[in-house]
This record gives sequence, structure tokens and C-alpha cells, in this order.
Amino acid sequence: MAEDLHIIQGSKEEQYQALIPQIKGLLTGENNLVANLANMAAALKEQFGWFWVGFYLVDQNELVLGPFQGPVACTRIQKGRGVCGTSWTQEKTLIVPDVEKFPGHIACSSLSKSEIVVPLINEGQIWGVLDVDSSEYNQFNETDQLYLEQIVALLND
Ligand code: SME
Repeated sequence: MAEDLHIIQGSKEEQYQALIPQIKGLLTGENNLVANLANMAAALKEQFGWFWVGFYLVDQNELVLGPFQGPVACTRIQKGRGVCGTSWTQEKTLIVPDVEKFPGHIACSSLSKSEIVVPLINEGQIWGVLDVDSSEYNQFNETDQLYLEQIVALLND
């Protein structure tokens, strides 16, 4: 397997469309969860240059920090707290254009301005979330939701 990511310029759609087959390639033949989460976070960070990309994994009644790329982050998030804990309880993707306007937002870094959180669901069970933060406002939309939901679904293959 090639270890180098091919980074492309272009629209958001074009970037995701070029990235998805590469992420599939990174996951193929590897069933270690930590390895796959780590490479997925790295590939997303490398292509898009976001401030923080990583996973929080369900552990009983809270989320615990998993593999990520970016500055150090909060290790535990209670169910229903912050954007991540709310995505977990609502079982849906949340797009937050301005984190300061999201009630209960957990500021791991004051540099984070907008955020998208995508739940990881397998056979109807949420087992974690993907959290992506940008240092600029309004960086995420339905296109990110569409493709990031497809990307995290690859973890269930
Ligand atoms: N902002 C998140 C916490 C995680 S950090 O951004 C990495 C939240 O409100 O859940």
C-alpha cells in the first residue's frame, strides 16, 4: 500500500472525491481500530488543513479522546455535553458555524471557531464521534456532512 497521500487542490467535492479512495486504501486489509482511526484523522488533516481532526469514543456514559491530529484536547466529555456529547445523544451530525453560539460548547482551544461532529454508528449503536474543528468561522456545510458520513461509514466495512 502506498503510504503517501496524494493531496489535491479543487472544490470541496473534488477534494473529498480524491480522498475517499485513498482512505479506503489505507483501511483495506487492516482491522486494527486505533490504526484505522489514526490514519483517517491524519488523511483528513493533511488534505484539508483543519485545526483539529479526531475521534472521541464511547466509554460507558462518556466520550474519551481517541486518535487525533492537532493540539492536545480535552480527554473526557460527558454524554449530552458540548457539541460532541450532543451529537451522541441526538444521534446525528451537528454543524456549528460559530462555536461561541452553541450553548455548552466545550472550548478545548480558544482558536477553534467552527466545528462539525459526525456520530460513528454501527448496527444502530453509536460508538463514538468524529470531531473536526476549524480556526475560521463557517467552514462546514452539508457537503462536509455528506462526505464525512461516508468516510466514517468505511470503519464499519
Ligand atoms: N468542542 C468540542 C470538544 C472537543 S474539542 O473541540 C477537540 C465539543 O464542544 O464537544
